[in-house]
Amino acid sequence: ALIPLRVLLDHAAENSYGVAAFNVNNMEQIQSIMEAAKETDSPVIVQASRGARGYSQDNYLRHLMLAASELYPEIPIVMHQDHGNSPETCMSAIENGFTSVMMDGSLKEDGKTPADYDYNVAVTKKVVEMAHAKNVSVEGELGCLGSLETGTGEAEDGHGAEGELSHDQLLTDPEEAERFVAETGVDALAVAIGTSHGAYKFTKAPTGDVLAMDRIEAIHKRLPNCHLVMHGSSSVPQELQDIINKYGGQMKQTYGVPVAEIQKGIKHGVRKINVDTDNRMAITGAIRKVLAENPAEFDPRKYLTPARDAMKQVCVDRMVAFGQAGQA
Ligand code: G3H
Ligand code: 13P
Ligand code: ZN
Repeated sequence: ALIPLRVLLDHAAENSYGVAAFNVNNMEQIQSIMEAAKETDSPVIVQASRGARGYSQDNYLRHLMLAASELYPEIPIVMHQDHGNSPETCMSAIENGFTSVMMDGSLKEDGKTPADYDYNVAVTKKVVEMAHAKNVSVEGELGCLGSLETGTGEAEDGHGAEGELSHDQLLTDPEEAERFVAETGVDALAVAIGTSHGAYKFTKAPTGDVLAMDRIEAIHKRLPNCHLVMHGSSSVPQELQDIINKYGGQMKQTYGVPVAEIQKGIKHGVRKINVDTDNRMAITGAIRKVLAENPAEFDPRKYLTPARDAMKQVCVDRMVAFGQAGQA
């Protein structure tokens, strides 16, 4: 059944686990998540960005999600708007059956320009008022994550976001976080703790702590009842880079967020973990392999079936690692 994010994350908090939020754009990705959920007995968060809604069209997406809830009646499913850029976007998501919305007021409506605190509070509060009236949950964001503009996590100058993100002032301030949650009433809060979107997070293999764990702890201490969200949480596994590059791809060597770091976050109040890039890579690697090995192949099912299996495996791995397995 489709349920609000709040209900799922309250359960996750009571039982000390985290829940992966996987991005989707089409039927195959939804199928991968649902099959992984069935295999591991996991509740799931399925999320669509604005770009995903445009690509797939709201009507298709709504009916695909209804199909998922019909086919897997035993699995709790949250349908979440990822990075809503305005109250209008969040409203149209709610009208299209989403049970949870993110109002990302850390950025202006263009989704690129950093916004000030007062703007963030105003738009987020507005969304909370209209969403809660319809039993829909709201995620807000405070702090400055790696850039969204290139969709790769890279800054516009082509350098990874790593250097900028190590600047303390870009990370979420615990005191401000407490104020933000009190002023807006959000159910969950995305925090900037050292991650960035896309495949190119770190140029060197992470040694020691990647995440600002002390920040997470400090924020969690002040906000024991607000669920923390980690964006940019793909691990960018070496084996997926290798498959892509072995079969004709050209990805630069890169490093993501180690699963073990995420597990530490879960111990300190992180409940929702956003993963998109790892699934994109799994799909791409599988498709490249089939087409490289069988250049005469032209039945899409021949490469979409392995692609779906590869994404399902990533989902299973994360569900087990984050502790949501067995919690459906
Ligand atoms: O945060 C970004 C997600 O990975 C979704 O990406 O906006 O290209 O659909 P997208
Ligand atoms: P990744 O690019 O690390 O998968 O992050 C996805 C995300 O945060 C979506 O909101
Ligand atoms: Zn994100």
